[in-house]
Amino acid sequence: GQAPAHTLFLFGATGDLAQRKLLPALHSLFVDKRLPERFVVIGVARADLTDETFRSLVREAALRFGRNADAGEDWPAFLRHFHYVQADARRPEDFARLRARAESLETEHGLPGHRLFYLALAPDFFAPTARALGESGLTACRGWRRLVIEKPFGHDQQSAIALNDALRKVFEEDEIYRIDHYLGKEMVQNIEVLRFANSVFEPLWNNRAIANVQITSSETVGVENRAGYYEAAGALRDMVQNHMLQMVMMVAMEPPSRLKMEAIRDEKVKVLRSLRRYSPEEAVHHVVRGQYTAGRIQGQDVSGYREEPGVAAGSNTETFVAARLYIDNFRWAGVPFYLRTGKRMAAKATEIVIQFRDMPKDLYFNTGGRLGPNLLVIRVNPQEGVYIQLNAKHPGTDERIVPIAMEFSQAPDRSPESYERLLWDAMQGDSTFFTRWDEVSLAWKFVDPIAAAFTRPDTPLHPYPAGSWGPTASDRLLAEDGFRWWPVQ
Ligand code: BG6
Repeated sequence: GQAPAHTLFLFGATGDLAQRKLLPALHSLFVDKRLPERFVVIGVARADLTDETFRSLVREAALRFGRNADAGEDWPAFLRHFHYVQADARRPEDFARLRARAESLETEHGLPGHRLFYLALAPDFFAPTARALGESGLTACRGWRRLVIEKPFGHDQQSAIALNDALRKVFEEDEIYRIDHYLGKEMVQNIEVLRFANSVFEPLWNNRAIANVQITSSETVGVENRAGYYEAAGALRDMVQNHMLQMVMMVAMEPPSRLKMEAIRDEKVKVLRSLRRYSPEEAVHHVVRGQYTAGRIQGQDVSGYREEPGVAAGSNTETFVAARLYIDNFRWAGVPFYLRTGKRMAAKATEIVIQFRDMPKDLYFNTGGRLGPNLLVIRVNPQEGVYIQLNAKHPGTDERIVPIAMEFSQAPDRSPESYERLLWDAMQGDSTFFTRWDEVSLAWKFVDPIAAAFTRPDTPLHPYPAGSWGPTASDRLLAEDGFRWWPVQ
């Protein structure tokens, strides 16, 4: 289908996110013929650009970062949708101009007055921009209005509440689309389908059959040029509060009454309500933090976190977190959920491993207690697919039991980029794969005491060499329970 005719306001149109993700995503949607004929994008930023220079920037971004862009395409047909207005949220006269421009473009193109406001901005600008949208009358439009807002949504629960209150002065909850781009990933969305469209899994999806769940999201990149943000965030706020907990929710949620947005989000929130909250004292027993030191990645020497530009020489910011979570409900009581995420690790991968309970050891087979468990592995990134590890006889022998894999891999390039999917959903008014306020708030409530533990000088910060799988303390966390991390494939 096609999105409805509307006006998209892209705040931060010259920024990194717009260049790398949003403009290329718009181009892909255009190539797939999913953008409506009547559609206007107004790029907004503080730089002084004309429509023409903005359009050439859009084209460059799509060519450079696009999934299926090539130079031979019908660029004029795509680029004619784009316009540019220079504006600063602190200057009401700028927003008055923006409004006048929007109205004249809407009249010129016969648009119904639906408005999508996308804030691809630094977090400090979220609240002021929303306020300026309200005060300028830009949100008083004839059609629907929606706000898409990037992460981070606050720094802790208190600041998230303040931000939310500011947004709610201008937008209703159901008009706010909070981005968590992991929810736009094909295989994260596929978790529901795997669980609820296959009769082989649901009877086993509980503490009677599952021994533990392991969720890894590892990166090879370091802090890059983001020290200004990352120093104050760390891996806990950057990855755990949002992406990692979202994956926990998708794995652990109860079947919703209908596969519809509010029903799904209701079930996800219940997972967070059942999530055991640790006090800062308890947190140190269940959460490991680490920081990378110099090492080697893919044949390249890289420096340690504290040597990175913009990072304090004595920084205690964590670039790695491993954690053991418990969901205290009937389905999951007693099943540990292990999370780990970090920068400068050995590989870039996101994977979910469901480890099933052991068979009685050596009852039939004399494997010396080494009969491996069954695993269901959901590969989110970079490969997309599923595999199941089973035990089978090694051909030609009677005794040797070996693990075999039944594997499905999605063809590369088949899946749309997260941002393509999420932009499209926002245009359609489907907020299933956006985070609702109660999710955000409860996620912070879980994270805040851990963050508090991290500020204490006696909480260990484990160094790990760049290019490794994190500090050994992360392995010990699982070893305490008799488990180990399954290697990422
Ligand atoms: C972002 C974090 O939300 O997710 C980054 O701010 C991180 O630090 C990124 O690199 C990882 O996303 P992906 O899709 O590459 O796994």
